[in-house]
Amino acid sequence: MTQHEASVASAALLDLARDIAVRASEFTLQARRAGVSVAATKSTHTDIVTAVDRDTEALIRSLILDARPADGIVGEEDATHDGTSGLDWVVDPIDGTVNFLYGIPAWAVSIAVVEGAGAGGVDGTTLAGVVVNPVTGELFEATAGGGARLAGRELAVNPTVALGSALVGTGFGYAAEQRRKQARVLLDLLPKVRDIRRIGSAALDLSALAAGRLDAFYEHGLNAWDHAAGALIAREAGARIGGPGGGRENSELLIAAAPGLYEELAAALREAGADA
Ligand code: IPD
Ligand code: CA
Repeated sequence: MTQHEASVASAALLDLARDIAVRASEFTLQARRAGVSVAATKSTHTDIVTAVDRDTEALIRSLILDARPADGIVGEEDATHDGTSGLDWVVDPIDGTVNFLYGIPAWAVSIAVVEGAGAGGVDGTTLAGVVVNPVTGELFEATAGGGARLAGRELAVNPTVALGSALVGTGFGYAAEQRRKQARVLLDLLPKVRDIRRIGSAALDLSALAAGRLDAFYEHGLNAWDHAAGALIAREAGARIGGPGGGRENSELLIAAAPGLYEELAAALREAGADA
């Protein structure tokens, strides 16, 4: 495939991902108006799922498979569907489920299309990604090599911010022991930065970084569906994204920042024991 053909293919995937994300977003809004409650807990008692998470993912899955029956799907709320095309859709129907439950307007539908995603959707190359905040109607999107946009506007991360002036987003997992470790890292990092934001949706955190609303973001223990679309959007807006020991981001650690800030933040996280 030539580079031109690849970018046309990614744009077509983005169009489909956008259509599906918009439909899913409308579905979540309607469902929220009808009322939401916790349907079950998952990894811990704080890790919740609502019926809307499940129904939204079922809707997204059926729309993907109607359009592209040979593709695979890795989603938060249901088993992995193996495809044969080499493309996987990495889906978080509601990223920020706790915000969704409480009516805090910071949750998102996140959909990415990944080539060669591997088990759990963590490897490979993300070709297209969409993150929609249904309440604000903001739709962030990107294709690999094609830039990132919000409502048609090209996005770019804030350039050259020093760590001491950086507004840094992060998040916490659901397991008590992991939260203890995350709190220890924060204790060390907080005095070194402008401030910390815990928005409650990794997909929106990464989109906010792309839009210059945060200077950096890091979190331990994310799943592929939390960050696949948002990381592409941030990267295409100029962010550097990485993981532990200078390697690729993974389920242990994701660090995202403008290239000029990345090393300083990564070093501060190492000092805080985050990379251990
Ligand atoms: C969570 C959110 C949150 C992050 C957690 C994720 P969920 O996803 O992205 O910001 O801190 O690690 O699990 O459970 O709301 O889909
Ligand atoms: Ca999530």
